[in-house]
Amino acid sequence: MLNQQLLVQFEESVPVQLNLVIDRNGKVVKIEQGNLTANLLEGIRRRRSKKRLSGLRVITISDNQQLTLAQKNLALRFRLDNLVKVSLKSDSALLVIPKVAEGRLVSLEEINLTIKQAIEFDQLAVVAQLEERLSEVDNYRVKEDRERAILVGKAEEELEELNGLATTAGVEVVARSLQKQERKNPAYYIGTGKLEELKGLVFSQQSNLVIFDDELTPAQHSNLEEVLAVQVVDRTELILDIFAQHAHTKEGKIQVELAQLEYLLPRLTGKGKELSRLGGGIGTRGPGETKLEIDRRKIRKRIHSLKEQLTEVRQNRAVQRQGRKNPLITLVGYTNAGKSTLMNLLTAADVKVEDELFATLDSTLRQAKLPIGRQVIFSDTVGFIKKLPHQLVAAFQATLEEVQQADLLLHVVDSSQAQLKERMATVHQVLEELGVLNKEIVTIFNKSDLVADDYLELLRQDYPSSVAISALTGEGKDRLLERISEVIARDMVTVDLEFPYEAGKWIDQLHQNGQVLEENYVANKIKVTANISKRLAQRLQDYQV
Ligand code: GTP
Repeated sequence: MLNQQLLVQFEESVPVQLNLVIDRNGKVVKIEQGNLTANLLEGIRRRRSKKRLSGLRVITISDNQQLTLAQKNLALRFRLDNLVKVSLKSDSALLVIPKVAEGRLVSLEEINLTIKQAIEFDQLAVVAQLEERLSEVDNYRVKEDRERAILVGKAEEELEELNGLATTAGVEVVARSLQKQERKNPAYYIGTGKLEELKGLVFSQQSNLVIFDDELTPAQHSNLEEVLAVQVVDRTELILDIFAQHAHTKEGKIQVELAQLEYLLPRLTGKGKELSRLGGGIGTRGPGETKLEIDRRKIRKRIHSLKEQLTEVRQNRAVQRQGRKNPLITLVGYTNAGKSTLMNLLTAADVKVEDELFATLDSTLRQAKLPIGRQVIFSDTVGFIKKLPHQLVAAFQATLEEVQQADLLLHVVDSSQAQLKERMATVHQVLEELGVLNKEIVTIFNKSDLVADDYLELLRQDYPSSVAISALTGEGKDRLLERISEVIARDMVTVDLEFPYEAGKWIDQLHQNGQVLEENYVANKIKVTANISKRLAQRLQDYQV
């Protein structure tokens, strides 16, 4: 399996490490000096079928026999036929072969050989056996396709939230790693000890994804991927991914793509692998500098075009808004607080409710009538979250305009959440960024069915004008409607009006858009006392008495 001549030449020449990638025909497709990292394999064409191995093997030759965990993991990550470390000094070789169970690659087998044994080893026969067992993959597909993630964060609560995000993104969480106040290595974001521990976890848990709770710098990102030899994702990327999965309308999709490209642009480091994250479309092979420049230009052009489309969306919304005469009430809150459930309760609408983060991405508008007779429009918005990527806030400006245009904001809080105050502060911070803190805000402590009455009482003392409600059971709905009505009623006046019978159409309007308190039909006239918006009163000035 090894070429003896090559080894001899190598031994006589330079005492450095040499790495070779060889295809099944025995052709050396790449040769590189230095430490063995994932870079060796980036950009090389390989089979990607789950029923096959990649068709490539790596031979690495140096004066010692050790392989780091990350290096061994390359065999799994790149589905290598095998990986051989040859130590010329000790006349020994370490052979690393992937193991297959239930139709997928699950771990590695390590075999110590002499160089002679390594040369004689019939690797093609082993590959054929492994591929036969891999072809059973169809029987196990569901289990196999999920990503197995390790979460890294600073505190238990943060990891809990990150876990929610990861699950929403459809990832299986196999381990969590708490990163305490250890000294950090700026190149890797975490400390050296932690990095070693993570490498071990990746290996023992067969993980193929590590998710960090903070935003990583482009350099940290690529350093970590290199050392851990698995895909690394930071919080921003994860949130962007969830948004991408949940965007359904054209507007939502434009906004998410814009945010993704803005995130990606500074991360194009020239290695090419970042480009492949975009999936099809923009090149997926490892580019040289020229190709990279072309990709950058393409992305900038696309960003420009998306921004233009968004401007158009905004203009359309502005036009729609001008025709809107009823007050706008916008629901805001931390993700999963229960906004959509409450929206359904208040408007009998069928808004998507899921125990998932960010199920609502595209703002939804629904009309409803308050008990005081006033027609209002309720709008549900995207959930907020701590460290909401700023690219997203910028991109979702158009959707968030529903917040800026609102006559009243309903801040929905999940009262069963341990981090309630922190989450409320996060929402306030986003509202501040949007410049809307001066608006009328009603705080709603939702999910009252999940917490004790004493606790709700304490919350009510802390926030005197708040309302407790269970959007699920409907408990507290009337109180909430009353509170909303109080605010909306400030914009209303009670007027006495007299209409000739010919102007009878106004009576309908009053019933639809206000509260008719008295209605008398006298000679040639209809006398009405009604509670209506100041705006309607203005239009009916001629009929006021
Ligand atoms: P995002 O779309 O992520 O912003 O979520 P959201 O704020 O719109 O929350 P949603 O209405 O989707 O509710 C999230 C989860 O909380 C769902 O599983 C709901 O059934 C549940 N939920 C909402 N309100 C209540 C409530 O009053 N009591 C209980 N027990 N569960 C509730």
